[in-house]
This record gives sequence, structure tokens and C-alpha cells, in this order.
Amino acid sequence: MKIGRITVSDRANAGIYEDRSGPEIEKVLREFLGDTTTFESAIVPDEVDLIAAALKNFADELKCDLVVTTGGTGISARDVTPEATKIILEKELPGFGEIMRVQSFAKVKTAILSRAVAGTRGKSLIVNLPGKPSAVRECLEILAPAIREGVVHLRGEDPHEIPKIK
Ligand code: MTE
Repeated sequence: MKIGRITVSDRANAGIYEDRSGPEIEKVLREFLGDTTTFESAIVPDEVDLIAAALKNFADELKCDLVVTTGGTGISARDVTPEATKIILEKELPGFGEIMRVQSFAKVKTAILSRAVAGTRGKSLIVNLPGKPSAVRECLEILAPAIREGVVHLRGEDPHEIPKIK
């Protein structure tokens, strides 16, 4: 499986602080999807056009099966990741954001401040995650089974032939 990970952050993009959330995506997804997974990565500032362009590049040119963003899903002035993602999505998957917020809320009461969205573009599954490394893990643990199955559906493979993951 080929995965694109995009860290959306003005400060990480400017090198003001280290990107810890992008590498966390990689670590958690390797745990769930196996070591054969390959990754492409990018760090972009909180700008709609640049986020949308990075998402399109990973989906259309690099043909990633899955593209995961981290950051910019909240309500601060610069948070625009969901807006950029909605521009390039062909089909929305509202359940991803809904279940992330509901299940995370049981643990972290601020989880409902995330407006993360998800959906598909061509054969790519695209998922927004919040920006904190701990949130990346919490949300991917919730979404991993649906991500695995969703990628199989988009590839046109038979979901019954794929072993289930935790
Ligand atoms: N979801 C989980 N699972 N764990 C978290 O710690 N943090 C919340 C929320 N979702 C959090 C979470 C907080 S504090 C914010 S502000 C929003 O995600 C948006 O974060 P973002 O703007 O970095 O994407």
C-alpha cells in the first residue's frame, strides 16, 4: 500500500518546530497495515490552495491508496484543512469524522473542536486528522479497520480475501 502523509502547519513548514505528527502517522499505520507500506510525505502551510494542491498531487500523480493529513482541522483563524479537502474530494465519507469525534470525546472532551473530514478522489482514500501526535494515534486506532477495507474497495479488490486487522 502506498500512503501519502501531509502535515499542515505554518510553523512546521517554516521549520519553527519539528514535525512530530507526520512521523507518528507513519509509525501507527505501519503497526496496523504492515511494514510493506511505503510513504510519501509533505509539510505545507495552512493555505487552502497549497493544501488542495498537495492532496491532488498525492492522489492524482503519486497514486497514493491513502492520503492522511494532520493539523488545521480546528477553529483557529488559520485552520483550513477541511475546506481545502472538501474542494478536491469526489465522494465524502461523513462517518470518518463522526466516529473520530464521538469515540475521541469519551477520552478527550476537546475532540469536538476538530472539523476533520474524509472521502475519496479517484482511487485514493483521503482522511483528515487533528494535529497533535497523541490525537493522530487515537484517531487512527479508531479508523484503521475502515481504512484498510476502504482501500480494498477503491482498488476494486475482493474484501473477503483480505485478512481482517484489529
Ligand atoms: N482528538 C483526539 N482524539 N485527541 C485530541 O487530543 N484534540 C482536539 C481535537 N481532536 C484532540 C482531538 C483539539 S484540542 C483540537 S483544537 C482539534 O482536534 C483540532 O486540532 P487541529 O487544529 O490541530 O487539527
